[in-house]
Formats: sequence, C-alpha cells, structure tokens
Amino acid sequence: MATRVAIGNNKGGAKKTTLAVRLAEALAKAGKRVGVVDFDPQGNASRRLGWKDNPDAPQLTAAEAIEYNEKQIVFEGQAAEVWQPIGWTTPYAERIRLIPARYTLEDRATEAGMRGAWRRLAKSLKGTDDDLDYVLIDCPPSLGHLTQMALGACHFALASTEPEYDSIEAAVRYRDFVAASADDLGNPDLSFLGLVVSAYDMRVGAHVGQLDGARQIFGDQVWGVVPRRSLITNADEYAQPLDEISDSSEVRGVFENLAQRFVKEVPAA
Ligand SMILES: Nc1ncnc2c1ncn2[C@@H]1O[C@H](COP(=O)(O)OP(=O)(O)O)[C@@H](O)[C@H]1O
Ligand SMILES: [Mg+2]
Repeated sequence: MATRVAIGNNKGGAKKTTLAVRLAEALAKAGKRVGVVDFDPQGNASRRLGWKDNPDAPQLTAAEAIEYNEKQIVFEGQAAEVWQPIGWTTPYAERIRLIPARYTLEDRATEAGMRGAWRRLAKSLKGTDDDLDYVLIDCPPSLGHLTQMALGACHFALASTEPEYDSIEAAVRYRDFVAASADDLGNPDLSFLGLVVSAYDMRVGAHVGQLDGARQIFGDQVWGVVPRRSLITNADEYAQPLDEISDSSEVRGVFENLAQRFVKEVPAA
C-alpha cells in the first residue's frame, strides 16, 4: 500500500486542490510515484492535471470506484480499473496517475447510511496502489461523508489554508475532527501532519497577523508558506505543469521544498 495523505480543510478556496496538484508534481519531479485521488465532486484536481472526460464514452471516475454493485458490495481493489494517466505531457507526468472525479461523486455522498459506506474508499483502493510511493486525496470543503471516507482510507491528514481567519478556523476544525474521529473511522493510527499556508501576501496586514496566529496554533506543524502569485492561478487555470511556465523557478522552489519536508516526515510505503 502507498502511504496515503488526505488534504483537507472545512472551507472552500483554502488552496487544497492547488496543494494536492503541486505537491504531486514536485514529488514526481523528485522521482516519486504518486497517485492523486480527486474526491471532490467539483473535479478541479482532475481538470488541472489535464484530465478530460469523453462525453461520448464517459470514463470511470471516483464515483464508480466506490459504487455498490447489485449485491450492495464494493469489492476490494475495485479502483484498479479507474486509475488513469494524467493529461500533462511533461516527462515526470508519467509518474503521476489519477482517479478522476466528476459531479456524479455527489451521488455517493447520499449513500452514507448504507452498510459499510464509510469503508468504501479504503476497500476500493486496497491493492491498487502498491506500486506507488504516495497517494494524495483531494477532499471536498466539508467534514461530511466523502471526507470521512478519505480519512478512513489514509495514514495521514494534511491541511491547507489561506492566511485568513475563516480559513484557519476551518483548518483547526479539520485537525480536531481528525483527532476526534480516527477511532470512529476504524483508523486509529490516522494522524495529523501539519498545515500549509497558501497565497500569503506580506503587504496585507491581515495576512501577516493570521500567519502569526497560525504559528501560535499549529507550532512547528506549519509546514510552509506559499506566496500569493498570479503565476499559480494561471497554471491552475490553464491546467499546466509548472515546468512549462517561464519565470516559475521561485514557485517551483517553494513546492520542491514542501515536497522535501513531505518526503522527510511521511514514511514512504
Ligand atoms: N499561492 C497562490 N497564489 C495565488 N493563487 C493561488 C495560490 N494557490 C492557489 N491559488 C488559486 O486560488 C484558487 C482557489 O484554490 P483551490 O486550490 O481551488 O482551493 P480549494 O481546493 O481549497 O477550494 C484557485 O484559483 C487557485 O489557482
Ligand atoms: Mg478544491
């Protein structure tokens, strides 16, 4: 089994998907084999990794990876057929693969009351990521069923936040939810890794104060700070790898440093 990490925050816009995509990119550049599970029905990670659905022949997605069969069972390894290459053509892209998502993943959330529902992702991934070093799961901005399924399938949780009050408060909720729910999710060894503060602008007084506050709350679990750069928005917008963007060396360096800390602190499988 790969070492699996759920990237979350109980708020949208907290830069979760950017962290999942760019961390996967930096890890792959460093030679690691990485899986990304898009577990947000918005499918932003899938699109930003260059994945495209085919409307004439819809591809398998996360919704099918955890879908009950006619016997109301999700079988072990069900995700095997859903893993797909990403759409980027840069050389390190071959070390990243994807379980994509589309809005139909939302339909699975309403099945929370069915037998064994919260174990579905863990069961489905079983045996399908043994050849990978890491799997990053991009969670939706909620602590509901989809996020609980992701946490039930992971070894670690990592939070992403903007340097703003509501976002940091929502990261604290995610951290505390992980600690309070690990046992109930049948995953007592699940542990919280830390927090990445993204889109930081030192010219904004509130950002300076909130970064300070985040350091007081999370201590050395603040893993790193990603500056606010339009280059990051553009790369996400146009679904591009950073290596294909000119003048991106500063930003690449930031994510490469994060990847180094990740490799140091997160034991590979
Ligand atoms: N460091 C950054 N600087 C500027 N824009 C950023 C940065 N990180 C992320 N963004 C942009 O912020 C927006 C929201 O980020 P996203 O990853 O979609 O958040 P979430 O997944 O938490 O909802 C996206 O348009 C993304 O490209
Ligand atoms: Mg997102």
